[in-house]
Amino acid sequence: MSMLSIGGSALLLVPRNGLFVERDILRPIRRAPATLVGMCGIVGYVGNSSRRADAGHSALDVVLEGLRRLEYRGYDSAGVAVVADGTIAARKKSGKLTNLLAELESDPLPTSLTGIGHTRWATHGGPTDQNAHPHLADGGRLAMIHNGIIENFAELKQELLEKGVTFTSETDTEVAAALLGDIFRNQLNGESSNLTKAMQLACQRLEGAFTLLAVHADQPDVVVAARRNSPLVVGLGEGENFLGSDVSGFIDHTRRAVELGQDQIVTITADSVEITDFFGAPAQGKEYHVDWDPASAEKGGFSSFMEKEIHDQPDAVAQTLLGRSDLNGQLTLSELRIDPELLKKVDKIIVLACGTAAYAGLVAKYAIENWCRIPTEVELAHEFRYRDPIVDAKTLVVSISQSGETMDTLMAVRYAREQGAKTISICNTNGSTIPRESDAVLYTHAGPEIAVASTKAFLAQITAAYLLGLYLAQLRGNIFSGQIKDVLADLGKVPAKIQEILDGAGPLRELARSMKDEKSVLFLGRHVGFPVALEGALKLKEIAYIHAEGFAAGELKHGPIALIDEGQPVFVVVPSPRGRDSLHAKVVSNIQEIRARGARTLVIAEEGDETVRAYAEHVFYVPQTPTLLMPLLTTVPLQIFAAELAKAKGYDVDQPRNLAKSVTVE
Ligand code: AGP
Repeated sequence: MSMLSIGGSALLLVPRNGLFVERDILRPIRRAPATLVGMCGIVGYVGNSSRRADAGHSALDVVLEGLRRLEYRGYDSAGVAVVADGTIAARKKSGKLTNLLAELESDPLPTSLTGIGHTRWATHGGPTDQNAHPHLADGGRLAMIHNGIIENFAELKQELLEKGVTFTSETDTEVAAALLGDIFRNQLNGESSNLTKAMQLACQRLEGAFTLLAVHADQPDVVVAARRNSPLVVGLGEGENFLGSDVSGFIDHTRRAVELGQDQIVTITADSVEITDFFGAPAQGKEYHVDWDPASAEKGGFSSFMEKEIHDQPDAVAQTLLGRSDLNGQLTLSELRIDPELLKKVDKIIVLACGTAAYAGLVAKYAIENWCRIPTEVELAHEFRYRDPIVDAKTLVVSISQSGETMDTLMAVRYAREQGAKTISICNTNGSTIPRESDAVLYTHAGPEIAVASTKAFLAQITAAYLLGLYLAQLRGNIFSGQIKDVLADLGKVPAKIQEILDGAGPLRELARSMKDEKSVLFLGRHVGFPVALEGALKLKEIAYIHAEGFAAGELKHGPIALIDEGQPVFVVVPSPRGRDSLHAKVVSNIQEIRARGARTLVIAEEGDETVRAYAEHVFYVPQTPTLLMPLLTTVPLQIFAAELAKAKGYDVDQPRNLAKSVTVE
């Protein structure tokens, strides 16, 4: 009998012949821990023979049902693998889950009680059958599925190639599978068939963010999984156990879940759950009861996908930064396949985008011009194309698009290429049209964004644009490596600062609810705060259907101040008072001007800025960060405000009227 402790105060006694949990004081977690960006849907299952008789409890039934539940995550391919008759049987198809179901119909899998399944949101390698998961290794006797990014996959792949391993896909996952297979077969020092041990050794080699699930034909009643910076939960059943990237994967079968901690490995059989760290020491999981209904489980317990995605933002920024700089703090944008010599000759940058993506471009302009000293224009794609713009071989066109399918942006990129410009796509959807038609792509890793109103993709777009600007500056020698290192270090602190804002948003939500009947809200910002003001206004328009307008604060006296009437709510995004040429004083006088005319001044300011208190009806503080990075923080309160106000009005926050997630018409 192995003794483990799960949940700190719960004792999970795992006798060989059964599984039971002896509870003392268990505090069920009402909401799952802060959501990690799940780019893919993951399901694992092991049941015992008594389950075989139960309808719907074959491994394939359970896994496919779980993938259906995870369908909301969006994906570009799907696959399953089962262990049966001493072999691994797997099927995988690009496209929607229905493509996989059709494949299974025409080419069925053998019955099994052990299986894994995956819906892919591609990061490395396009959405093809070959790149779909599961990936096989060890002569087809091992299958693996993965969510996340293996940062050091290139060096591991080289090591395995030198051992004679061959690969059929471009994915980092196949490298992880091959590593696990090699360890299982050749590095367990004669210890037979120990997939758990092999996974421990493999995880000691892997860097990055990953949830891995693996099955092996030599151990037909076991699924082994591992997690680092990527979601994984265990579902505890009777005579069966489950794994999922979130509880949606198994909520139809059990509501007893165990949250795994960082750098943990879990081995499930039909009757046991064993948790260790990456070095084999017994470890703890936290058991909790899932009290969500299936629909809210898909939203991680949040009231809408938009709320969930707002809370995904710390991870969306972190994942977009992951693996793009080396230990010396230098940018390593290996996926940016444009001749560095060409980039050194660029004498103009034009950013093309629409809507929120265009506001990300406006933020990027301030940073890129500051770091690279290259004139940077930001153009609404639908305007650019028809104004006979000046574009040549020394123009770098950077398109920004969450979907990668926005027709206005696509047509503008095509036009720019015809004029001889080099094009880079900043995009959140792997393998979509705009990246495919660009010279290079820098993917954001925000995970699927379901809500029509863009939130986490916006912050990820800004983050990717910063990385591009730093990369160009590094290439052209505009700024010293020390400064690049400092900016990257400041960026690395942003996810935790966003989390602070999310955790302290109660008063802001209260204000939003109190303002649900407002007819108009204005937003002011200056410098990088100006695009934030535009984005805050767009969010409110989009989901609360309230007239809202963003202005450059300096523009107020040139007309908009005429709009200020008694009680007119105005959000003001205030620059930091720190720094040499702070615009702080100018914006504070703007606040005074509108307050004198009766405006309700709602101020977003940085912690420690006491000056604004005297002129603000409400102040919402964000943690300090360098000015150019401020939009990653000052945007978040405006997103929360819009989502909470729209919810208070009873509107469909995720599917607002008249809008589509991707505008694929001109
Ligand atoms: C933003 O909340 C809107 N969904 C919309 O402005 C969007 O940003 C715009 O249509 C561009 O979409 P894309 O990023 O997919 O190209």
